[in-house]
Amino acid sequence: MNFAKSAPIPAKLTSDMELKHRNTFGLDAIAEFAYDITSAEQLPALLKTLTEKKMAWRVLGGGSNALLPAQLPGATLLMNILGQEIVVVDGDGDGDSDSDSDSDSSNNGKHTLLAVGAGVNWHALVAWTLKHNLPGLENLALIPGTVGAAPIQNIGAYGVEVGQYIDSIDAFDTIDHVFVTLSQTACQFGYRDSLFKQHPDRFILTRVIFKIPEHWQARTHYAELAQQFSDPNSLPTAQQIFDAVCRIRCKKLPDPKVIGNAGSFFQNPLVTEDQHASLISQYPNLVSYPDKAGMRKLAAGWLIDQCGFKGQRVGAVGVYENQALVLVNHGGASAEDILNFAKSIQLKVHQQYGVQLAIEPNIF
Ligand code: EPU
Repeated sequence: MNFAKSAPIPAKLTSDMELKHRNTFGLDAIAEFAYDITSAEQLPALLKTLTEKKMAWRVLGGGSNALLPAQLPGATLLMNILGQEIVVVDGDGDGDSDSDSDSDSSNNGKHTLLAVGAGVNWHALVAWTLKHNLPGLENLALIPGTVGAAPIQNIGAYGVEVGQYIDSIDAFDTIDHVFVTLSQTACQFGYRDSLFKQHPDRFILTRVIFKIPEHWQARTHYAELAQQFSDPNSLPTAQQIFDAVCRIRCKKLPDPKVIGNAGSFFQNPLVTEDQHASLISQYPNLVSYPDKAGMRKLAAGWLIDQCGFKGQRVGAVGVYENQALVLVNHGGASAEDILNFAKSIQLKVHQQYGVQLAIEPNIF
């Protein structure tokens, strides 16, 4: 762990750093000045200098939800703060924040608090929690990226969102130039949404404190997962769910090490019940899920698939053959190529269904 408040070693600087291997789309990108951030204590001095020099800056985690341009002028802060430690065992009540976590209604209130550096690989953390008998995050296995990036888009899969398991987040506030700890409530988690997404560049996340309830319950209600565990007399273990999620993801989603991609390229759009009723009368096979009161979430993958894009390719950019929500870089694509293809998808879906698809990855 490198959370101790000792005199900070300045962040290592590399000029003209190639980021092709630090973004899962595999885009060619050069960072003019890349800073290796290994400790939160490096941030105040660095941000002060960047502000004084009026230099552009951005933070890059694993680059798994990023569309990078060929040149990134100014400073790119590579978030590499590592380490994880259990800070509270057998805690009860609300822990050290005003967290209102309710990830399990039958929870006995006992929980473990686990503090994790923002640069830790997400999937490695999920595997680590299972190894240390702290189940809960298994539905989120194999999601690419880092722990610090996970809360920004509130990563979610197979009926679980990371925000449910977050107690609080330590961050550097780049406007007030102070370190802050934000409670789960303050993080304003929503579907692929959070305070950090609403206020880009204000907070640099340095450490996430997870709250893992002692009482564990399998979450297999998501249809694809439920199919894997159809025997009602045999309840799956967290490890079995982890393995099943890995199997499903490997079948449906492209491995970024093999073919460049950033997971779902679009969010599933929310429509009103009235819009939904009108669409379903025209398209009886429309796939949707109930959402907050008066709203429904449409499966964007279905809309794109029905428009005939699945498996299509324009130059180096394509729509993945097994999941229409995923755009892929077949090799040599630029961010502009990807955005142009994305725009043609948005246009066609809008013309056909009157629904606007929002782009999920961060456009740098
Ligand atoms: N569908 C199609 N054709 C496709 C893809 C999907 O018809 O090509 C229809 C199918 O009916 C399918 C339904 O859409 O049953 C939903 O598809 P899927 O289960 O693959 O889920 P999704 O809504 O497309 C979301 C997340 C994924 C997450 C899965 C599982 C978003 C934007 N995406 O996808 O997250 O893994 O659910 O929970 O919410 C990511 O964010 O990068 C990501 C992969």
